[in-house]
Amino acid sequence: MTGLPHGFIRSRDVLEDRLTGAQVRTLELQHGNEELLYGLDLIGVAGPFSSVTPWELEDEQGVRRINASGYSATPFGEMPLVLTDFLKEFLEKNRAMTLPQQSSSPWRAALEANLVRLLARELPSHQDSQVFFCSSGTEAIEGALKFARAWRPGTKYSISFNSGYHGKTLGSLSLTPNPEYQDVFRPLVPGAVTCPYGDLDALSALIRRLGPDKVTCVVVEPIQGEGGVNIPPEGFLRGLGELCRRHGIVVIADEIQTGLGRTGHWFESAAHGLDPDIVTLAKPLGGGLVAVGATIVRHAIYKKMLGGLSSKRHSNTFGGGALAMAVGLRSLEHLIETDLPRRSLELGEVGLRHLQSLRARYPRLLQEVRGQGLLLAMQFQPVVGIPLPGPVKELVYEGTAILALRELHQAGVMANLSLSSKRTVRLTPALDMPRDVFEIMFGRVDTFAARNPASRNLLTNTPAGVTMSLAKFAASKPKKRTPSDG
Ligand SMILES: Cc1ncc(COP(=O)(O)O)c(C=O)c1O
Repeated sequence: MTGLPHGFIRSRDVLEDRLTGAQVRTLELQHGNEELLYGLDLIGVAGPFSSVTPWELEDEQGVRRINASGYSATPFGEMPLVLTDFLKEFLEKNRAMTLPQQSSSPWRAALEANLVRLLARELPSHQDSQVFFCSSGTEAIEGALKFARAWRPGTKYSISFNSGYHGKTLGSLSLTPNPEYQDVFRPLVPGAVTCPYGDLDALSALIRRLGPDKVTCVVVEPIQGEGGVNIPPEGFLRGLGELCRRHGIVVIADEIQTGLGRTGHWFESAAHGLDPDIVTLAKPLGGGLVAVGATIVRHAIYKKMLGGLSSKRHSNTFGGGALAMAVGLRSLEHLIETDLPRRSLELGEVGLRHLQSLRARYPRLLQEVRGQGLLLAMQFQPVVGIPLPGPVKELVYEGTAILALRELHQAGVMANLSLSSKRTVRLTPALDMPRDVFEIMFGRVDTFAARNPASRNLLTNTPAGVTMSLAKFAASKPKKRTPSDG
């Protein structure tokens, strides 16, 4: 049979905005991640949203909100001119192969070289490092784990940290110690061991107990992002590097969230005296437009896995594609030319002061605030203040952040949940958010806090119908869902 299947949605209909919000949500509920969309819909944050400026999103009712979500992957906000203008030119002029795979590519070559030069400027030992490209953060970690294993045959343990987050494919998931994500997939990749984050003595004791010659690698986020913005004590990263070097253990710095400026440095690990063997990057490298992941590896380690005829031992189809590399190249160039890491550090200090002042004024709402650069976190007091049994407590904690997200959204700010830290909501605005928009955003966060001076107000300010639906949703078995009408 030829022709379009019944109900086929034409690209032009999407391009010209002919699907209503309700149609979009219905299609997603029917054919996509129904339960996720349903949960988001319950708290009014399911969208679809469109961008009015790179920093502001609009819903179908025309309500505008400042965007501090994006999970650290939108360094220049939505549809930034710096990339869209460049892309128009790229599409017009590019004649290089789009998916070069086994042949060389000018776009990939340029980005490989630039990334290594940038890293080596901070860490000269990386002058001859090499890059492997992929299309997500988790895939960059998978590559890193394989490089480490191939480098240290005969070893069997990989160490990661409590509250760490490295992705959800099987290898990275094994090193992401979160029962919600791990439990149904057991057995995971063997040899994954968890250590308390920031505790050098515990790491040293763990390595001694496992046997240093049995440990393949240590994977560390220099600041934990999804774990709720946890900044390790001074000396932890440097000490971790020295400890691993003494034993020849591979250090993988997961800079997927922190790298390229979000926390105010090009590489947060380097800023704290860690010289990792492997660095993983993703999120901002794609400029918020395309998927780009990169694993930067010391020369000898790279060659060990991909030497000679083994050079095809690790590969993928899309990594290094011309479009992804071109956007990556332009994004990196723009980050450098406008010195966005420095701006992020400076603006982040202003943001953190705002949050600290809120915490001082609303201690019954905010238990703690944390942050560095434009990775900012609000940890809420639980909405129910009495002691609760374990599973109920977990639900209440999660509910706290969800209701906070809803209230922030109502106040005109879009924020992120933290995937491995319940009760924590993160603000990750674009690194180039104009100062006036930034101040308006914190004005709205202030309004949010004034409306919810104690965390139980998150509950009382939520319509009873929404709370009931959320509670039923949390308790229910998956079933077919119906969308809201806007
Ligand atoms: C530190 C870190 N590593 C890995 C990942 C996984 O990246 P992705 O979602 O692109 O697979 C994330 C995503 O949040 C992350 O923050």
